Amino acid sequence: MTDHDTAYRRQLRIVFAGHVDHGKSTLIGRLLYDTDSLPDGKYEELKQVSERRGMPLEWSFVLDAFQAERDQAVTIDTTQIWFKANNRDYVIIDAPGHREFLKNMVSGAAQADAAVLVVDAQEGVREQSRRHAYLLHLLGLRQVLCVINKMDLVGHSADRFAEVSGEIARYLEDLGLGLVGTIPISARDGDNLAHKSPHMPWYEGPIVLQALDRLEPMPSPIDRPLRLPIQDVYKFDERRIIVGRIETGILRVGDRLLFSPHNRTAVVKSIEAWNAAVPPVEARAGQSVGITLDEQIFVERGNIASHDTHAPVLTSVLRTNVFWLHDKPLLVGNGYKLKLATEDAQVTVQSIDRVIDTQTLAGKKGEAVHRNEVAEVTLRARKMLALDEYADNPATGRCALVDVYDTVAGGVVNMKGYPDQRRLYQVKGTNLHEVEHLLTPDARAWRNGHKGAVIWFTGLSGAGKSTLAMLVERTLFNKGCHVYVLDGDNVRKGLNSDLGFEPGDRAENIRRVGEVAALFAQAGFIVISAFISPYQVDRDRARKAAPDAFHEVYIHADLETCEQRDPKGLYKKARAGLIQDFTGISAPYEAPGTPELMVDTDRQPIEDCVRQIVDYISVATLLEAPDAATAS
Ligand code: ADX
Repeated sequence: MTDHDTAYRRQLRIVFAGHVDHGKSTLIGRLLYDTDSLPDGKYEELKQVSERRGMPLEWSFVLDAFQAERDQAVTIDTTQIWFKANNRDYVIIDAPGHREFLKNMVSGAAQADAAVLVVDAQEGVREQSRRHAYLLHLLGLRQVLCVINKMDLVGHSADRFAEVSGEIARYLEDLGLGLVGTIPISARDGDNLAHKSPHMPWYEGPIVLQALDRLEPMPSPIDRPLRLPIQDVYKFDERRIIVGRIETGILRVGDRLLFSPHNRTAVVKSIEAWNAAVPPVEARAGQSVGITLDEQIFVERGNIASHDTHAPVLTSVLRTNVFWLHDKPLLVGNGYKLKLATEDAQVTVQSIDRVIDTQTLAGKKGEAVHRNEVAEVTLRARKMLALDEYADNPATGRCALVDVYDTVAGGVVNMKGYPDQRRLYQVKGTNLHEVEHLLTPDARAWRNGHKGAVIWFTGLSGAGKSTLAMLVERTLFNKGCHVYVLDGDNVRKGLNSDLGFEPGDRAENIRRVGEVAALFAQAGFIVISAFISPYQVDRDRARKAAPDAFHEVYIHADLETCEQRDPKGLYKKARAGLIQDFTGISAPYEAPGTPELMVDTDRQPIEDCVRQIVDYISVATLLEAPDAATAS
């Protein structure tokens, strides 16, 4: 173990959370005093102030003093309150309110190892206690110590303690937050902090300092895969120096780096240092570095450098848990600037999937997210983004939304229901040389009497895609067309038998079918593909494979209708939890925004739908008459 690692392990960052009046500041003040961590003279000063005012000593004044210092500091992150106990340093992250909490979270300042949640014994669990607990959960904190404060005000009652601690324990359990213990305390009197309280002999558990001693540090940033978000690229004499702060992992001279999202690679030639006698060969998480590469590849601000064995997720759609801070609500269709590591990207709100009531943890679908609400939101970017799920890497998995100049939300990335698109963009083969056909598409079209086309059906399971596809196929066949249906259930038994229904597999399913459909269309066929194809990006990629021949047809039916029809009994199974990732129930479906054609099997009789689609295809695949000059 290096010195750095040992130092890191000896330090524990704790966020203190809880309702405003439940005694957080008093607890922090008293802990500092009990562990001899107050600056010299501070205690005497406090005592004098209290005596002058004829009031009992007010421990929270300690924090006010720190706050004043913090207000003068240039950046909020630089002032840290810490105390020493059990042979290690504790860094206190105070969270006065949501806004500060979120701000700290977004800037990374609140990256804590554990949390202490303060609840008033008399008042019990309040909305803010729940809200803070929910935020701790969002932040990925797995260790929460709960203290039930002001036990003196409830006569040090064991029953009251059991009542309040039971309530908070149930809430945390529902969240999936690990509660490491609940301790009855009186912060003002120093009961059960550093000294066991004589007033609560019925309590036999650990006191606060003992419980803190049992907390484990989170994995060190150094132990996570390398992430170097690029801040800038400087031209310096003949060299190009790529600059950024290593968020996690270790970088060494000679490492091959992958730059996402462009996916170019190059080898680190040097790590630049201004004052070092010997140039460094290694740099680690927390260090800002300038590096040079062995090749001049395209790199720009916002890119993330990693090793190619542990690359970040690539996606243009991201799921986030956002905490909304602004008076103007978040609405579907609104555009914001997303800040993620050093990347700034324009995003649009595609859907609000769940607005979470932090009181009850109930989620409902919503049209808007209002100030102080937490919601699961799907965002769509115009370009590919490199990122991580927050749980995998907080540094590249947290984001902020900015509206003009205001930070309107803090969020964490959770990609639930959405795939990493990296694999879909790779061409593994090298030394490939395309060969050209001797036949033109026109020649094939004239022989067939119609143009080739991809008629891409998308819609929920049970919307009627397969039924319509087969009827349309027969009608067109009888008219003499070269037509063939590619159907999800069929293709998944053969070509795609290695794929299931998790997001990555679905994306690959559609990628392959998109390519096959494009080949069929080039061969002169009218291909009707009947796949749920739930993601817009996948359908767009299929369109790219057959740019002039692709037609998106939305086979629409409401989820309720599909569920009622349930031709294969799958909705019932999905509701019973027997099928995972079922579209519309436990996996997303993105309806097309501007399909070429839409039929509504909810409202239109089936023959109408068939006629409408056949008419559309007849026009779309019609041969253009050769112009007069060439014909004569
Ligand atoms: S897609 O999402 O990847 O486009 P696809 O159209 O190939 O799906 O397959 C959908 C069919 O698979 C459904 O009609 C249904 O019969 C079956 N199926 C099995 N499991 C699932 C699931 N979890 N979600 C949706 N369909 C499923």
